[in-house]
Amino acid sequence: MQPNKTLLTLALAATTTLANAQVSLSVKEPDSTTTHSVSRFIYGQFAEHLGRCIYDGFWVSDSMNVPKKGRIRLDAVEALKRIKIPDLRWPGGCFADQYHWSDGIGPRSERPTRVNTTWGMVPEDNSFGTAEFLELCSLIGCEPYVAGNVGTGTPQEMENWLEYLNYNGNSTLAKERAKNGHPAPYNVSFWGVGNESWGCGGNMTPEYYTDQFKKYAEFCKDYPGTRLKKIASGPNADDYNWTEVCMKNIPYWDMYGLSLHYYTLVGDWSHKGSATSFGEKEYFTALKKCMFMDTLIRKHSAIMDKYDPQRHVSLSVDEWGIWTDAEPGTNPAFLYQQNSLRDALIAATTLNIFNNHSDRVRMANLAQTVNVLQSLILTKGPQMVLTPTYHVFDLYQVHQDAKWLPITLQSPDYVYDGDNIPAVNASASEDKQGAVHISLVNLDPNKKITVSASVASLNKTQVSGRVLTSGHFTDINSFDQPNKVKIEAFHDAQLQSGNLQVTLPPASVVVLELK
Ligand code: AHR
Repeated sequence: MQPNKTLLTLALAATTTLANAQVSLSVKEPDSTTTHSVSRFIYGQFAEHLGRCIYDGFWVSDSMNVPKKGRIRLDAVEALKRIKIPDLRWPGGCFADQYHWSDGIGPRSERPTRVNTTWGMVPEDNSFGTAEFLELCSLIGCEPYVAGNVGTGTPQEMENWLEYLNYNGNSTLAKERAKNGHPAPYNVSFWGVGNESWGCGGNMTPEYYTDQFKKYAEFCKDYPGTRLKKIASGPNADDYNWTEVCMKNIPYWDMYGLSLHYYTLVGDWSHKGSATSFGEKEYFTALKKCMFMDTLIRKHSAIMDKYDPQRHVSLSVDEWGIWTDAEPGTNPAFLYQQNSLRDALIAATTLNIFNNHSDRVRMANLAQTVNVLQSLILTKGPQMVLTPTYHVFDLYQVHQDAKWLPITLQSPDYVYDGDNIPAVNASASEDKQGAVHISLVNLDPNKKITVSASVASLNKTQVSGRVLTSGHFTDINSFDQPNKVKIEAFHDAQLQSGNLQVTLPPASVVVLELK
C-alpha cells in the first residue's frame, strides 16, 4: 500500500456547559511501517455453555414459537448477521476444559447427559454440539473459533476432534462426520489450546502451561485446505509474567495468538455491583476501569515486542466486557445481567482502544453474545431485545477490515469526586471506498463537548453521522420498552470549507462518515 503523506490536523475546541476546554486531535495517514487494517476479528463474540447463552438463547425448544432452523433461533441469527459478527468462540470459557467433543456428535437421543460443574451444576444434555455450533456459524456467516480441552482432555482427544472437523479423506472419523450429515470438512481454523489455564483450565504455572501448549499443539494438525490459527491461553489481566513466559517458551510461528482476559468490575468479585441501579460513582468507576484495557495492551505488547518485534502474534482479547451482579431473582451461576447505556459506552471505548492497537490486537471476543454478561441480545421466551451494546457493534461495523488511521487526541477531563479520566476517546479508519469513519465517545454524563476540526486535507465535502445516547446512563432496553436506547441520525456535525464542527451530547457515541 502506498503511504499517503497527507497529515490531517484537527484542532478541536471542546465547549462544555460550564467552561471551554481545549482539545486537539490529529488524524493522519499511516506511514509505510505502520500501515495495517483494523481486523474484523476485533469484533468477535463468545458463546459458552453457561446459563441461558446456548440453551434457551441460541438453542431453543422445539415448541417455542419463533422462526427457527431446527432448534436454532433465527431472529438472533439475523440480528448478528446485520452487524457482521466475524467469529464466535465456543464452547467456553471454563466449560471448554471440561467438554468432551465426542459427547456432542451423532443422534441427539444417544448423546450422554453430563453435569455442567462449572456453571450451576445443571444437566448438560449435549443436544448442542459440534454440528449444531457449526450450523449456527454458517447461518450467521461467521467463522468458528473452537476452544479445545487441555484441562481434562488429552492430546489424542484434541487430535481426533480436529481430524473429525477438518480431514477430507477416507478415515474413520471423517466417515463418521459424513454419517452425521456433513461429508465436507468444516475447515475450522481458529483453535484455542485451553482456556484460562492459570485458573479454571487447570491452575497451571506458566512454565507448565507452555510445556502443555507445545505438547498439544504438536498434535493439532493442519489438514489439507486449513491452516490452523492456534491461540495460546494467555494472561489473566495484569499477569505480565505469564506473557513473558509464553513468549519466551513458545515460538511465534506456532501461535497465531496469545489470549488476554480482562473484565470490568465496579467492585470486587464478591460485590460486583448492580447492572441497572447505580449512581455516578459506579458509572465513573466502571468507565475508569474499562480504560485500564489500554494500559494492559501497552504493557503486554511491550513484552511481546521483545520476542516478536514484527508482531506476528496477535494479542487476542478473547474475553472482555463488564461483569456485574446477576439480575435479582435469576440463578447467580447463570450470569444473566441487564445492559445499560453505561455498558454501551464501555463497549465503544474498549473498541476504540482495540482499533488504536490493531497492529497487535487482531482478535477480541466480547463475553457473551446472548443472555450472559455483557450481551448483545437478551431473550425471554419468544421475545428478544437488542441491548445498547449491540447498537455499538452496529455503529462500529464500518471499521471492520478498514485501513487504520492514527489519531491523537488530547481531551478535557471528566472529573468526578476529585478523580478524572479523559472525557473523549476516538478512533478512525478509511474504508475500501475511501470513506473516513471517526468514532467519538463522550463519557461525560453532564456536559456536551463541541469539537471543531480542520479537515481540508482530506478533501471531503460531506459529513453524516449516527448517534447512540439516552436520557440517563442507567437507561436500558427492556422487554416492555425494547427501543429506549437506540441509534438515531446525528445532525450536530457540519462540514464547510474543510472545517468540521461536531457537538457530542453527554454520555454518547457518535460515528461520523466523511465522504
Ligand atoms: O465468561 C465467563 C467466564 O469468565 C469464562 O468461562 C472464563 O473463561 C472466565 O473466567
